[in-house]
Amino acid sequence: MELRHYLQFKDFNRDEYEYLFDRTRWIKDKFKRYERYQPLVDRTLAMVFEKHSTRTRLSFEAGFNQLGGSVITLMTRDTQMGRGEPLEDVARVISRMVDIVMIRTFEQTIIERFSSNSRVPVINGLTNEYHPCQIMGDIFTYIEHRGSIKGKTVAWIGDSNNVCNTWLQAASILDFNVHVSTPPGYEVEPERAGIHDDSHFESFADPLEAARGADLITTDVWTSMGMEAEDAERKRDFEDWQVDADMMRLAKPDALFMHCLPAHRGEEVAANVIDGPQSVVWDEAENRMHVQKALIEFLMLGRTII
Ligand code: CP
Ligand code: NVA
Repeated sequence: MELRHYLQFKDFNRDEYEYLFDRTRWIKDKFKRYERYQPLVDRTLAMVFEKHSTRTRLSFEAGFNQLGGSVITLMTRDTQMGRGEPLEDVARVISRMVDIVMIRTFEQTIIERFSSNSRVPVINGLTNEYHPCQIMGDIFTYIEHRGSIKGKTVAWIGDSNNVCNTWLQAASILDFNVHVSTPPGYEVEPERAGIHDDSHFESFADPLEAARGADLITTDVWTSMGMEAEDAERKRDFEDWQVDADMMRLAKPDALFMHCLPAHRGEEVAANVIDGPQSVVWDEAENRMHVQKALIEFLMLGRTII
């Protein structure tokens, strides 16, 4: 089987996502019926974390165990990587002992260097630039609640970070629109986002205008991991970029609210929005596990006939 990695959203095409969302439905339904599905007995997933995580670690570990395999978690500071062992050497060693790898790290170039030295599939569990598993889970969640995302409008309010960049890549592949509003100085950088035209993306100086008529409003923390030194400055700069009830009222009446979590109530989102009736954040968190099981199965076993 051809070796493939999942390093950013555009590594797969529309047809592959359609397959993966169908497959996720099958895998999730089976799990909910308590039916065992263990195609990965005796296989091992290694997870490498250079940053904190709750959901990514839980969802990959629980999901891989459900598929019958076992998981090894490495926090890089506890390994020889933390003492300067070359990344390329670590990739060669890890990929001789396990069957698939998930990495959460800093620059995208780190995961690219790792994957070019890996004999097994590598999955991006978040980099400074992208968070593809999150958006796969979010779009599956949208489909569960509202049907196809094609032609819909997603409003992104806040920082043009890894999650925002991934929404932008997804919009081109799955043919929906993203309205982005960031404070001045925090605008989308198309090259960093990995998008080559703005046909599925529009910028708005006013966050309320970005939200107007949207099918989905989503946001994320003002200060991502690794940017903590800018926290005080960002709190000032992002003050007017909070998703609150007034902003939700400008969206379509049946608009959903999403947040990848962890969230800061009273900063990027008001408590009555994230805890309100339009919020689907807990479904998003759960669906990370189901989509990732479909992704792992696809990378390790290829397409499976249902
Ligand atoms: N959304 C997400 O990736 O959460 P964690 O940082 O807890 O893994
Ligand atoms: N943008 C956030 C996402 C956390 C899941 C970060 O990178 O910290």
